[in-house]
Amino acid sequence: MKHLIDPTDLTKEEIDHIVSFAEKIIANREEFRDSLKYHKLATLFYEPSTRTRLSFTSAMMELGGNVLGFSDAKNTSVSKGETVADTVRVVENFVDVVAMRHPLEGAPYVASKVSRVPVINAGDGSHAHPTQTLTDLLTIKRELGHIDGITIGFCGDLKFGRTVHSLIKALSRYENIKVILIAPYELRLPDYIKQDVCAKQGMDFREVKTLEEVMPELDVLYMTRVQQERFLDMEEFERVKNSFVLTSEKMKLSKEKMAVLHPLPRVNEILPEVDADPRAAYFRQVENGKFVRMSLIYNLLQWKDDPAHTMPEHPEYFKDTSIHCHNPKCICNHENVDPLFHKSGDGVIRCVYCDSRI
Ligand code: CP
Repeated sequence: MKHLIDPTDLTKEEIDHIVSFAEKIIANREEFRDSLKYHKLATLFYEPSTRTRLSFTSAMMELGGNVLGFSDAKNTSVSKGETVADTVRVVENFVDVVAMRHPLEGAPYVASKVSRVPVINAGDGSHAHPTQTLTDLLTIKRELGHIDGITIGFCGDLKFGRTVHSLIKALSRYENIKVILIAPYELRLPDYIKQDVCAKQGMDFREVKTLEEVMPELDVLYMTRVQQERFLDMEEFERVKNSFVLTSEKMKLSKEKMAVLHPLPRVNEILPEVDADPRAAYFRQVENGKFVRMSLIYNLLQWKDDPAHTMPEHPEYFKDTSIHCHNPKCICNHENVDPLFHKSGDGVIRCVYCDSRI
């Protein structure tokens, strides 16, 4: 069985298949209209969402299936103390596939370890958001015609932006990708991603101070919101919240054929005046999110009993009760889970649930 917790749970071939299959769905919508009739999806959303939850719902409905779940865990037995693992052990009796968003990093991973049905991570804390990554890849392919060889600028909150972390991981498996990082000092991409993903995979990357200096070379500009909800220090948030703003003036510096992506919601990092620019692809990206989730759900159910599509093995994971993950937003500090760690390429021990350095 295949779950999707991290983009690397899918092979490059599986990712390419899901993206191409989404394009096939777009071209043949009638053909897929009832393809998952009598199947059910649970959307377990412990954290707010507009796009992800509604696009999962719309995707399953368009495939002829049904959806149940919650968008506020306060109204469920979670408020009585039910764990993530027990919630999934209950919900798997009612559905064929689960999509989970959770503020605690590693929660969907914990769910996947006990579930008899595929679990999809719909965003866990600042950690990963793999279905947004699939959305982004489909959008890049549809906007530019290819993914290999692009120069992509990531701008804004690269520290807490889980969509950025997941997309960089996925792009590291494509050919000749150049990554340019544009962020205030406080919101730089975490070192472990620079080392373990960019440097280890030989991906060309550099950090710059202004958007203007790189606009002319970008094929994709990936804007992000500075996420107030991830800050522990509100003074720091106030200091950095308006660091980078995309305007029509700045768009004049960019190539004629390029695409501006944003996982949304935006606050004020892209002025509304940019929306009319044909290169502003962020609302087309939203629709792609539905198609790629249709493709993902369809394929995970096809692959469920296929031994060719299983989760990657991780023999390097080890249990150690003498060491401790100090990330307050890691599931391991809230629920009774095995203390699991792995050693990354640079010899640093990291938590399996949230990837934090120990
Ligand atoms: N892109 C995204 O995850 O949006 P939502 O938080 O609205 O789901």
